[in-house]
Amino acid sequence: MLKSELPGHLIRHATLRQLQVFEAIVRLGSFTQAAEALFLTQPTVSIQIKKLSDAVGMPLFEQIGRKVFPTEVGHELYDTCREILGSLTNLEMKLADLHGLKRGRLRLAVITTAQYLAPSILGQFARKYPQVELSLEVSNYDRVLARLANNDDDLYIIGHVPDQLTDVAVYPFAPNPLVVMARRDHPLVGKRNIPIQRLAKEYFLMREPGSGIREATLKLFDQHGMQPKIRMDLGSNEAIKQAVIGGLGIAVLSLHTLSAEGTCGPIALLDVAEFPILRQWHIVHPRRKVLSIVAKTFLEFAIQDEARVRAHIDRMMEDFQQNLNR
Ligand code: PGA
Repeated sequence: MLKSELPGHLIRHATLRQLQVFEAIVRLGSFTQAAEALFLTQPTVSIQIKKLSDAVGMPLFEQIGRKVFPTEVGHELYDTCREILGSLTNLEMKLADLHGLKRGRLRLAVITTAQYLAPSILGQFARKYPQVELSLEVSNYDRVLARLANNDDDLYIIGHVPDQLTDVAVYPFAPNPLVVMARRDHPLVGKRNIPIQRLAKEYFLMREPGSGIREATLKLFDQHGMQPKIRMDLGSNEAIKQAVIGGLGIAVLSLHTLSAEGTCGPIALLDVAEFPILRQWHIVHPRRKVLSIVAKTFLEFAIQDEARVRAHIDRMMEDFQQNLNR
């Protein structure tokens, strides 16, 4: 029997710090990034991994080209690490709470449209619980779903909840209507009840594949037997707004993307039949995830804030209708 196969061998020889270093390398895909994230030097990281791999008795990484990949044993160890480190993080938060401190860490991952709202909720939350460390990851729908599947964060804000996603707890959140945007001097601005078919003549600026907005837009067009003339795919809502202002085309985006400037700025809304596409955000987490005290507190806090977000978006919609009636 190898030494590494003796009962209790790992408990005696592997340290939590080594597991933390190992987890960071796999998650970030590089020794250098893990060293930066953990404020360690690269030699320290390499030594920790060498010791851990000696304790396990097998190599944990293989290098292919310039990238490192976990070996099969590395993958097994990674799953175990995430469970151990996740439980310890939760314990830390519970301990902090027992000391009467709402301290700890909140990791939130949101789809791009929620970036217009999450910072304001986080800002209010941070004022109430200044000790909580916050991280916000903004990505498109497909990538946030991948993070959810990977249990990377505490809570997630997504749009549509796919039917096959049965093992998640879902909290319906604020409305997220999709509207048609054009440059203020576009000939369709101010026209009422434009038939959706009319849009077939326009150039569209479209979000990248994997985006929820793109999927919802193409689905609506498809239901009407239409295909938009896509001039460009762009990976960000702000880039699309700038391209609309630049006169490159029209776009379907969330009304929230105009939160700061409103509907009377350089971008106007078009009154197109079938729009707005009425959608909603959802806050979700894996059903079996044990939410930390901080995550639970934030969830309640966000749900309480829902009315404010709803009122803001309703006001923007009313402004648009009133402008049309003028
Ligand atoms: P997206 O999602 O960033 O993937 O387009 C945004 C939304 O669905 O509102």
